[in-house]
Amino acid sequence: MTTTLAFDVYGTLIDTHGIVAALQPQLGHRAIDFSRAWRDKQLEYSFRRGLMKQYESFAVCTGQALDHTCSQFGLSLGPAAREKLLDAYRALPAFKDAREGLARVREAGFRLFAFSNGPAEAVGSLLAQAGLRDFFLDVVSVDEVKSFKPDPGVYTHFLQRAGATGGDAWMISSNPFDVLGALSAGMRAAWVQRSPEALFDPWGIEPTVTVDSLSDLVARIHP
Ligand code: 2OP
Repeated sequence: MTTTLAFDVYGTLIDTHGIVAALQPQLGHRAIDFSRAWRDKQLEYSFRRGLMKQYESFAVCTGQALDHTCSQFGLSLGPAAREKLLDAYRALPAFKDAREGLARVREAGFRLFAFSNGPAEAVGSLLAQAGLRDFFLDVVSVDEVKSFKPDPGVYTHFLQRAGATGGDAWMISSNPFDVLGALSAGMRAAWVQRSPEALFDPWGIEPTVTVDSLSDLVARIHP
């Protein structure tokens, strides 16, 4: 069986802090702190909605997290400015190593899927505008089972959709909760440590491998 790779999208292939440039006119030097708070709140809302079984799409989590972060930073956005920011979020840039890393693993014969909290259509167009969509056999979304990472059910769903088993599939993610979720559901997992300051959770469960760039992936993962 050919080994399957499930690529996380936000934070792994696509840089969520690519929104900073769009925030700078209103927030100046506070733009990066705003971007981090927005991302943290977006993920918190997905975790809470998953636990409460009150599913709304990741786009709703993103919009409501934006509203919360605006209140936190005292930023008042009119409807048009809010929509403009969310439009920019739908067109975030890829990390610089994404194309090369994906090309190398595809050439090596792995089966590539995108696997995200985002709805499949939105993730497909995000990847297309970043020039990455054609690397993937398909986009698998948690939206298909109305829950969020790291619910074990979403990883089981991924394996079913990809026609793979945990033993022949890897999760590739910069998000430690995603790596732990995939490992706990029986997959192998590569943690993409996107900065030397990024920390892994001290749960006594380690990533199968750790890489600091997607370009190194092909040398570190094995069938
Ligand atoms: C994703 O699923 C976790 O945001 C991350 O794309």
